[in-house]
Amino acid sequence: MKHVIIGASGQVGTYLYQKLGQVGEDVTGTYYRHPQTGYKALDMSDTEAVESLLSAIKPDVVWIPAAMANVDFCEENPELSYEHNVRAPQIVAELASKQGARIVFFSTDYVFDGMNGPYQEKDPVHPIMVYGQHKAEMEQYLLTQVPHSLVIRPAWIYSRDDNPRNFVYRVLSELKRGHAVKAVTDQWNTPTPSDGLVNMAWKALQDEFEGILHIVGPERLTRYELTKRIAKAFGYAVDLVEPVTTESFHLPAKRPLNGGLKTQHSSYRLVAGRDFEPLF
Ligand SMILES: NC(=O)c1ccc[n+]([C@@H]2O[C@H](COP(=O)([O-])OP(=O)(O)OC[C@H]3O[C@@H](n4cnc5c(N)ncnc54)[C@H](OP(=O)(O)O)[C@@H]3O)[C@@H](O)[C@H]2O)c1
Repeated sequence: MKHVIIGASGQVGTYLYQKLGQVGEDVTGTYYRHPQTGYKALDMSDTEAVESLLSAIKPDVVWIPAAMANVDFCEENPELSYEHNVRAPQIVAELASKQGARIVFFSTDYVFDGMNGPYQEKDPVHPIMVYGQHKAEMEQYLLTQVPHSLVIRPAWIYSRDDNPRNFVYRVLSELKRGHAVKAVTDQWNTPTPSDGLVNMAWKALQDEFEGILHIVGPERLTRYELTKRIAKAFGYAVDLVEPVTTESFHLPAKRPLNGGLKTQHSSYRLVAGRDFEPLF
């Protein structure tokens, strides 16, 4: 099959591009602001550019991990968030589906309010910040307007990449310098390894899964516990990790506290060692 990944330069996109290449698929990746050799430049809000790319390639599947994923930036710039998280991916989905391609869109656990997690696919969404509202709006568009769409919700994605977008990298960068790392004790979530996420997403595509699918790591823990595990696994003193509350950061966007996801579909539960290589 022919695949296009919009946002192959991102954390998930990088793993997805590798995975599809490994399994012998024909894959084209795009970047936006971080050029990568072999990828094509694309701003998905540029309708003509999207149209020209899709009509040249005629993909069977269009993956959209691309997003404006900085939650606080979105809160302070709701118009830009709408442009990048709703209008632009809608254009991609509309044009691609008109050509007969399947859409795989990456959404988020932040469509939930974090009052009563972990959440299943059937639970009603209730976002508490702009980013979550826009992701929920995009989900709704796909589920109602674009037949056969697959909407994947991961949560707190991490990887092995040396890239500031990766939480593990950010923690280790501080610890390497002997700096303490503040981590919140009141946010619960289900951290998701990028390798497991793309392995399971590929399986879901092959199974022709349609609708919403939660793909998350097998454990639910606080950011504080997660950060201590990372420190321990990489040989740093865990007391460099300082417990704090979410409120102490005074961030623009609210965060779900009692959050996290689980899936109703048992064959899509990630298993360490089988679906991903544990990092900590
Ligand atoms: N990271 C998490 O913890 C997390 C948790 C839950 C859900 N998600 C969702 O999972 C998906 C993947 O996350 P991620 O961590 O891989 O995000 P990421 O590392 O920030 O990557 C975002 C990608 O989108 C591209 N992009 C941004 N704006 C674009 C535009 N206008 N046109 C084309 N490409 C554009 C970026 O390109 P450049 O880098 O080249 O600019 C990059 O490749 C996102 O949809 C995110 O909302 C993430």
